[in-house]
Amino acid sequence: MLALFPAQMLNCLRRCWLLLLFIPFAAVAQYPPPIAIETEHVSLVLGVGDKFKLYQTYLGPKLAAGEKLVLYSRHEAYVPAGTDNLFEPALRVIHADGNASLALEYADVKIEKPLGNVIGDATTTTIRLRDPHYPVEVLLHFTAYFREDVIKTWTEIIHHEKKPVVLTSYASAMLHFDARQYWLSQFHGDWGEEAKQQDSQLTSGIKVIDTKLGTRAGWYQTPSFFLALNKPADETSGEVLAGSLAWTGNFRLAFEVDNQESLRLSAGINPYASEYTLPANQPFVTPEFIFTYSATGKGQASRNLHRWARRQGGTLDGTQPRPVLLNNWEATFFNFDEARLDGLMGDAARLGVDLFLLDDGWFGNKYPRNGDAQGLGDWQETKTKLPNGVGHLVQTATKEGIKFGIWLEPEMVNPKSELAEAHPDWILRQPNRPEDLYRNQLVLDLSNPKVQDFVFKTVDEQLSQGVAYVKWDCNRMISSGYSQYLGKDQSHLYVDYVRGLYNVLERVRQKHPHVPMMLCAGGGARAEYGGLKYFTEFWPSDNTDAFERVFIQWGFSNFFPANTIACHVTNWNRQQTLKFRTDVAMMGKLGYDIEVDKMTADELKFSQQAVEDYKRLSPVIWQGDLFRLRSPYEGNQVALMYVAENQAQAVVYGYSLHTRFLETVLPTRLQGLDPARRYRLTEINLLPGQKAALPAHGQTYSGDYLMKVGVLLHNSDAQPLTSHIMEATAE
Ligand code: GLA
Repeated sequence: MLALFPAQMLNCLRRCWLLLLFIPFAAVAQYPPPIAIETEHVSLVLGVGDKFKLYQTYLGPKLAAGEKLVLYSRHEAYVPAGTDNLFEPALRVIHADGNASLALEYADVKIEKPLGNVIGDATTTTIRLRDPHYPVEVLLHFTAYFREDVIKTWTEIIHHEKKPVVLTSYASAMLHFDARQYWLSQFHGDWGEEAKQQDSQLTSGIKVIDTKLGTRAGWYQTPSFFLALNKPADETSGEVLAGSLAWTGNFRLAFEVDNQESLRLSAGINPYASEYTLPANQPFVTPEFIFTYSATGKGQASRNLHRWARRQGGTLDGTQPRPVLLNNWEATFFNFDEARLDGLMGDAARLGVDLFLLDDGWFGNKYPRNGDAQGLGDWQETKTKLPNGVGHLVQTATKEGIKFGIWLEPEMVNPKSELAEAHPDWILRQPNRPEDLYRNQLVLDLSNPKVQDFVFKTVDEQLSQGVAYVKWDCNRMISSGYSQYLGKDQSHLYVDYVRGLYNVLERVRQKHPHVPMMLCAGGGARAEYGGLKYFTEFWPSDNTDAFERVFIQWGFSNFFPANTIACHVTNWNRQQTLKFRTDVAMMGKLGYDIEVDKMTADELKFSQQAVEDYKRLSPVIWQGDLFRLRSPYEGNQVALMYVAENQAQAVVYGYSLHTRFLETVLPTRLQGLDPARRYRLTEINLLPGQKAALPAHGQTYSGDYLMKVGVLLHNSDAQPLTSHIMEATAE
């Protein structure tokens, strides 16, 4: 990117006022030396220059050590509003005296190793900026994870004015780019069709990806993206930044291409309806923005984020084993009783899974939860359905040698519930307007500490009686939201709600640090790293049709590791073979949501073997590196693989999606193997009596051959959906 400066300088020469901005730091002795925030392969360089402002001068491939940096004060790193800013600001402050201008000068820098549970090298650099006139300070924090090539950045805003100030925008991060072209890959969707990839070239002006949904925030847009520089990136080539905002609420990503073709990215909480009144001496801490840069395409960027998430707390206990489970939702919906559940737990044990997860419909007495119209909020077992309570179910599970998990939607309430009757003031709703129901429910006011206590107690009670897993759901957005607790500070609601939620999750994790939990929001509407650090996995979609899941799981795989993406084998689409459904679910964190007692003997045998094989291979699938080989967006022959870090083992998947009659099938080149080693290939997940169909089955090839010539992974016949899984083991 540095190479672009001469052309842009020429452009700038046309305007003499800009000339001033191009004074190299090196020429100005009194400025401190540039600050390099570095990982193994990436450098982000900030420097103090003109007017003692902090400038971003470089972001890209790692600069060689000892290089004399010739850097320019062109892009102010974190741009405040109201002074000389001409484009999208990072921060806008209205001071106690009503003045809405802010200037930020460099004050100092601190570099430290963070405390806490961090594997490997991570360094946190904190740069303090301050306004020369008003007592306002901004701390820019950057934690650089050396081995993962990931940088996490967030901002703290603090002031010492006599009265509160108002923040009207407060980005977590601002980054600047100078390239010939910018290509954005964004991920959008709706219920049942999450994480659809859309690529576009950014043109001048602002492209905004945001949400105003509050709770089920990522329903239509996700806060994760790729930004390719100069030309579109593919899996193995191109300069690309992968970014993700860690915030379980309203977010805003703004990409602004200015008059000089520079791109300014700001990422943070959506300031929409969220002016925040900040008292003196109380820091406003923004969410974290997590990013990585790859000079070799999106695949490497994904692998960096996956490694970071697993090892550096992006997901809870990311390097630990996780239970394979059987869920009852699609098998029973609300229609079950104790005997049926006891039976299902026996089935779960026969299948070979580790845990049975009881979904919605187990609670409520005055208003039993026999459908979604009532009972939400009354977290006591329905006596008529479960006379012996959850305790009995835990006992049955223990007898069957498995664990027991439960569904909760603790942030929500049906108006038809004892909770709503007892605490009407705990519910978000407009006092002077008709009730605005969605799925017959309303949102509890998590900004209220009493509601936080209630939610904590709800979860704690379950975990304290032996429940070993929680599916935490969130089935609606905030609309017509009004908090009785916040009174005049209604514009704090969206922010304080999420902070209240995090407060509860912190408390849950202090008391129950390792219980696995699934993050669900009617599907993947909360797939983001702010929540995921308290959870072991997320539910990407209620749509479990395996064909659809290839796309949905592919989309989320760009930013989240396989051990966090819950993929269940179901009967959503019985026309798809059990093998295809199983092969697709084995791409992520395998689970089942199926009536095991209705399986044929062969289907059960096949599934038992699949669970056994999956558990054996899970260290590779969960901890290995993902290589996306052939995209469903580019053709109907899809392939991907996971490779163990030591390159001794790999699992390779081939999905043929509605292949055409006599479609040409070429070998797929593998990636990530050791060229010098030889690998034995074995096709797995075969139905009893089915012969391996892949010609490479049972053969041994060098990694070099497999990566240069490849192997056949697809069928050329006109069958609608077929699949193969192959194991590669180094000899
Ligand atoms: C949501 C979830 C489903 C299921 C139902 C239960 O829709 O996404 O998986 O738990 O709620 O009501």
